[in-house]
Amino acid sequence: MLLREIYKPVEKELAQIEDLLRDSLGRSKRKSILNINNYVLVSPGKRLRPALVALSGKAVSGAQAPEIEKQLIKIATSVELIHMASLIHDDVIDHANLRHNKPTINTKFGEDISIALGDYLYSIAFQLVSRCGSMDILDCISSAAKEMCEGELVQVCERDNISLLKKRYLLIIKKKTATLFAASCEAGAIASGCPEEMKLSLRKYGLNFGIAFQIIDDCLDLIGKDKELGKVPGADFNMGELTLPALNLLSCSKDKTRIMRLLKQQEKGAFKEIRRRFIDSPAFLKTREDACSYINRSKDHLSGLEESCFKKSLSTLADYMMRRMAHDKSGEI
Ligand code: IPE
Ligand code: IPE
Ligand code: MG
Ligand code: MG
Repeated sequence: MLLREIYKPVEKELAQIEDLLRDSLGRSKRKSILNINNYVLVSPGKRLRPALVALSGKAVSGAQAPEIEKQLIKIATSVELIHMASLIHDDVIDHANLRHNKPTINTKFGEDISIALGDYLYSIAFQLVSRCGSMDILDCISSAAKEMCEGELVQVCERDNISLLKKRYLLIIKKKTATLFAASCEAGAIASGCPEEMKLSLRKYGLNFGIAFQIIDDCLDLIGKDKELGKVPGADFNMGELTLPALNLLSCSKDKTRIMRLLKQQEKGAFKEIRRRFIDSPAFLKTREDACSYINRSKDHLSGLEESCFKKSLSTLADYMMRRMAHDKSGEI
């Protein structure tokens, strides 16, 4: 199943979000800014977080007043802007040169522009979310942005820490990725005015989904292909970031000294060897199981919601992400 089909119940909302993104970024009177903003708009990502806002909002209350619809669109657009800003800064931090199969902003326009542009997108996002007129929504989104930035900061501080523990890794990915997923679902639910219990369930769905999503992304960074990912694999390894695939490889391997040596990048061709060893070892299945257990937990939190096409899409979305980790031994994904 394609993402487009999973998003179908909220396709109208996603089109409005796209319009608001275009409107927010395409209004500058300055040609130089328009040029950069257009570059950002022409290579969109998966729009996962806006879809979560819309699907969650609709899952708790299908038919909504126009005011609520408008709030959902603003929340979803601001969440996507926060995510876009985080990736622009992340690509500077990771020295990445390809995203969405195109040169990154830092490669195309330079690091100075990337930093300024990321800040610009954050400010537009908070302007939008503050215009929802709800302190609860503002608190939800701003707290998630703070957690996300803190997670990215902790990750950078932990670089080259070869004794990173799984617990610490999970804390980092919860902060840098899963919290924004959780907030997307929660904010959609808040806008729809649902009972506290449902709001909490959707938040937990988002949190567990987000943890699984980052584990899968980390796995693909080791075994994926440029074309399918739209980015160059090996960034985590090159930056000395120990992710779950590497941690599982270390704990599954008899020759830990060898793996440590490779992870410390003390040899030429170390990435290729780590990749091959990971695919051939039980660590691959273990990482897949780890991701799968978070996907299952996320779906469990949907059980209290009434049956609807929106709930179905939330569940199918979780399965779709898990399928990204299907892998045959030939190395093809
Ligand atoms: C990339 O997120 C960053 C991670 C949290 C792994 P996405 O894969 O959702 O980014 P785009 O927007 O679809 O490119
Ligand atoms: C970035 O994580 C997550 C953020 C919150 C910015 P990654 O560094 O794994 O994201 P990619 O792989 O570059 O998309
Ligand atoms: Mg990165
Ligand atoms: Mg990554």
